[in-house]
Amino acid sequence: MSILKLSAVFWLLPFAAQAQNSNIPPQATNCVSCHSSDGNPLVAGVPILSGQRALYLESALRSYREGRRTGGSADVMQTYTKDLTDEDIKEIAAWFAAN
Ligand code: HEC
Repeated sequence: MSILKLSAVFWLLPFAAQAQNSNIPPQATNCVSCHSSDGNPLVAGVPILSGQRALYLESALRSYREGRRTGGSADVMQTYTKDLTDEDIKEIAAWFAAN
């Protein structure tokens, strides 16, 4: 790849990231501060959601919402899931699984 083509790729990267962020489901915007919009958190101690299976994410979110997953930092997630509907959970899980 020529230097010119390579630099074009680097110029386009921020635009690709921006386009991706604007497609994020509204229900997932509350999660971004900790998990990042693509599910790859910058903070140690916050789990990576990116590429995780949607079914696993859905089950984890329902467990937090229903207070069945406790201990560790689960109380943080109980707060962020308490108002989510089953539909919200499906959409959010699909988003992070696909990223
Ligand atoms: C204030 C920071 C914070 C916010 C905001 C937050 N999370 Fe979390 N999340 C965490 C932490 C810390 C954990 C680990 C909790 C534990 O110990 O069980 C976690 C765990 C999870 C898990 C379990 C991951 C696994 O591997 O089992 C999922 C799924 C998840 N979060 C999704 C979300 C979603 C979806 C939102 C938005 C609705 C959200 N989180 C908002 C900090 C946050």
